[in-house]
Amino acid sequence: MDKIKIKDSVKISNKNGINYLLDNNNKLIKNKPWIGDLFSFLYDRIMEKSVFPKKFNASIEEHYKILKKIFEDISDKTIIEFATGTGDAIKFLNKNNIYAGVDISSGLLRLAKKKFDLYGFTSFELYNADATEIPFQDNTFDIAICNLSLNFFKNIEGFFSELHRSLKPSGIFYCSVPIPERKKSKATIHGSLYKLDDLKKMFENKNFRFEPCPYENGALLYFKAKLNK
Ligand SMILES: C[S@@+](CC[C@H](N)C(=O)[O-])C[C@H]1O[C@@H](n2cnc3c(N)ncnc32)[C@H](O)[C@@H]1O
Repeated sequence: MDKIKIKDSVKISNKNGINYLLDNNNKLIKNKPWIGDLFSFLYDRIMEKSVFPKKFNASIEEHYKILKKIFEDISDKTIIEFATGTGDAIKFLNKNNIYAGVDISSGLLRLAKKKFDLYGFTSFELYNADATEIPFQDNTFDIAICNLSLNFFKNIEGFFSELHRSLKPSGIFYCSVPIPERKKSKATIHGSLYKLDDLKKMFENKNFRFEPCPYENGALLYFKAKLNK
């Protein structure tokens, strides 16, 4: 199986199955994780017991049911996930895909690695990297995914640029994200919440055909955006 192609300029160090990017002096490029790496073992529990019911007013079971439906016919594709987290892609992606995941949190990636080892993707690679600076060559992926994370990307233009660059010319981006007009709870959802119309405009401006998926789950919007480049 071919490895996913990395840019010639990128230097990588692999530790326990996770790829870390090096700078010109061969020093690790350090990313400040979204949730302290020390607390990453609590992440799945926090999502299930607090974030889904209290912030999103959504069902986590329904979330994975929806994602499974969206991805059920996607097989033998080369897929990138922006913000892999603890590896919940195993709950909805078919095994016969080639998977690359990036995340700024090495703690969460270590948990993802354990799940992926047991699951058995055709192949998988994990990178401790920022969504705005990914190590892959242009036109590499058929599909890109981002779940519950778009709101955390501080440099959204940088993310768009990497998404556009790394997808093949008619690649498809699938996303789930909380949107303010569906939010019922008073609890704060961190990051930048984009309205449906704003998302549509942002994607259309970058030559994507934006299409919301017909699923309702609390504050969450599920959409896909097909690239035309
Ligand atoms: C709410 S979690 C979602 C994780 C996973 N996609 C899921 O559905 O469970 C947000 C994730 O975004 C990651 N993240 C935040 N900013 C990032 C960035 N600039 N680049 C890459 N990952 C980032 C965090 O480390 C965390 O894993």
